Amino acid sequence: MALNLDAIGKKIGPVSKEYNWKDLVLYALGVGAGFDELEYCYEDQLKVIPSFSIASVFEFLAEVGISSNVDLSGVLHGEQDIIFHNPIPTEGTLSTEGVITHMYDKGKGRGALVVAEADTYHSNGTKLFTNIFTIFGRKDGGFGGDPGPSGAVDFPARAPDFEEPGTPQSHQPLLYRLSGDIFQLHVDPEFAKASGFEQPIMHGLCTHGYACRAVIKYLFPGEPERMTRFRVRFSKTLYPGVPITTQIWKLEEGKALFRTINAENGEVVIDQGIVEWMSAEEMEMRKGREGIRFDDQVAIVTGAGAGLGRVYALELAKRGAKVVVNDLGGARDGSGEGSSSPADDVVAEIKAVGGEAVPNYDSVASAQGGQAIVDTAINAFGRVDILINNAGILRDKTLVKMEPENWDAVMDVHLKGAYNVTRPAFVKMRENRYGRIILTTSAAGLYGNFGQTNYSSAKMGLIGLMNTAKLEGDKHNIKINTVAPVAATRLTEDILPPDLLDKLKPEFVAPLVLYLCSELCPISGAIYNAGMGYFNRVAIVTGPGTVIGKETEIPSVEAVAAGMEKIRSIKGAEEFPNATASFGPILDAFSPKKKETASEESGGLTVAGVFENIPGAFQPDNAAGVDVVFQFDISGSGGGAWFITVKDGGCEVIEGSHGSPTTTIKMGDDDFVKMMSGELNAMSAFTSGKLKVEGDLMKSQLIEKLFKL
Ligand code: NAI
Repeated sequence: MALNLDAIGKKIGPVSKEYNWKDLVLYALGVGAGFDELEYCYEDQLKVIPSFSIASVFEFLAEVGISSNVDLSGVLHGEQDIIFHNPIPTEGTLSTEGVITHMYDKGKGRGALVVAEADTYHSNGTKLFTNIFTIFGRKDGGFGGDPGPSGAVDFPARAPDFEEPGTPQSHQPLLYRLSGDIFQLHVDPEFAKASGFEQPIMHGLCTHGYACRAVIKYLFPGEPERMTRFRVRFSKTLYPGVPITTQIWKLEEGKALFRTINAENGEVVIDQGIVEWMSAEEMEMRKGREGIRFDDQVAIVTGAGAGLGRVYALELAKRGAKVVVNDLGGARDGSGEGSSSPADDVVAEIKAVGGEAVPNYDSVASAQGGQAIVDTAINAFGRVDILINNAGILRDKTLVKMEPENWDAVMDVHLKGAYNVTRPAFVKMRENRYGRIILTTSAAGLYGNFGQTNYSSAKMGLIGLMNTAKLEGDKHNIKINTVAPVAATRLTEDILPPDLLDKLKPEFVAPLVLYLCSELCPISGAIYNAGMGYFNRVAIVTGPGTVIGKETEIPSVEAVAAGMEKIRSIKGAEEFPNATASFGPILDAFSPKKKETASEESGGLTVAGVFENIPGAFQPDNAAGVDVVFQFDISGSGGGAWFITVKDGGCEVIEGSHGSPTTTIKMGDDDFVKMMSGELNAMSAFTSGKLKVEGDLMKSQLIEKLFKL
């Protein structure tokens, strides 16, 4: 069972967790807070212990384990580094999304490290923290990979500047686990013994919470929100009830090192601790910059010298982005020499409100222009995080009067223009593993508008560009969305009703565009209408359709004519994430057997049904040399006992109990059905205690390979 190296770059999440003051207090009690730190335990003026952040990501951590295929019987939490961007509010919903970033090889017998990084946002739109997890797979070393950086810190030779004693209670894990990590190792004496321990052990992350409280107490007392980083390495296990001491060395204002030792035997249980915090002055400044921000991000806005583009550029800059203001400064139909003043004027406006911006006067209509626009961002600011393809012209004529030059000019600015700038920007975004791209379509393209065949075609072409770029960007955290604005600008001055002009300001479109440009935005590949503060989503949907003719018989034209009502029907229409998925209904229509299973999966799957399907799901190619008996004890009214024997490349399923199974899996009937139908993730079920494994834990990992349900 090797590590799955292909999982590097795999996106995990979003996973979400709703919480309120009771969750915070429960966590605080779990990590040893009490009357002497009432600010963590009393809802009146409640403060959040920053390490609570970990309670939001247990499910994420479990997913990292499954995706990387780390050997569960040797898995340990290696390191945890948390970067805090904003204070954690006392209630709300946390949404966490991230990727597996590295797998390091410490050598055969020395283990492997799986590193994952995840950002967590609050439901108020603020990015709260970034977690960098390192999982240590004791049994996974020796795959020939890079050993990775050591990241070790040297503690000063002097005695610690501060020492905080802690006394976890003998029942501490029973309290701490209520915050979400209900792994049996910390509660079940039998399980702990089977895992090689005398009794259930402390959660490493519980001791982590003790250490977090200790450093706050000495370094920035009463102000946990000042913490900006908290890094630890979990080095030894600890039994509940054993006293601990957290030792702290303050290196400078804003940075300290720490470790937590077992006060009975001196063993270091939490090592290599780094804590960083901001000054009280920085804290005050941050308060003035709350909300969705673009600090340290670089945005390109094309056609930003006027209209919608100008407002996007200004709003991004006001929220901290450094902006490239591109505009050629031509006429409404794209003719003329061009002028630098529209771009220069917007740059001056941005600077006047304290923002940062540079102008660019290249045309988006050529590949060289597109490259030069991206180069401007790189030369001025070193990166590109956001690209808003907004530049536009109009050359309206009916189809018959539409000469090729008018067709081409509009295509060149809108469709090719977006390609010309997006392509070089995409290269940079991929390097940074981050990007947000906006394309600008129009109701004329989405629905049609008399006299605009050129413009409509170009605007609809952008949807095709988005549909595929969203797939190519997915792995690199590049999200691309399309907006169809409605606003009073030079392009619409003669079309839109003058009495609505106030409400038709581009400012009413910009909030959606900025949201889609933000780190908070989890969406990719969507189309939105936006104008006057009204927003809705546009989608390409596919009707259920029908088969005309039988089996291999080619349908007649007359039969198609007779079936048009069903063919045209859009009732029960579906959206598809990609072209391959759209073939599903066609294939299903000719595969009744598959259809039956699918409907069963979504509705009537039963525990007995799962076991009936096992022989058909067996993968003999993966069973070479495997000799195991899996016993399933499924509780609940729909449950029962079954065992599966896999031996000599064959598989047999028998109802009942085996005398000496290799591995026993215990689960409730509902959870089992959910897990088998893909609704419940096996690793989450395991770590949350819904799935219990007895006997050879490692062999249980074979199940996924041996059966494709
Ligand atoms: P606008 O005319 O005020 O702004 C467009 C800007 O693009 C101009 O400053 C122009 O100089 C610049 N531009 C034109 N060709 C360029 C090129 N080759 N390279 C660089 N810059 C160039 O128009 P508006 O309304 O702000 O349009 C922005 C976008 O929104 C366009 O893509 C337009 O098609 C789209 N749109 C606007 C609607 C509206 O209601 N205003 C409706 C639907 C779509």
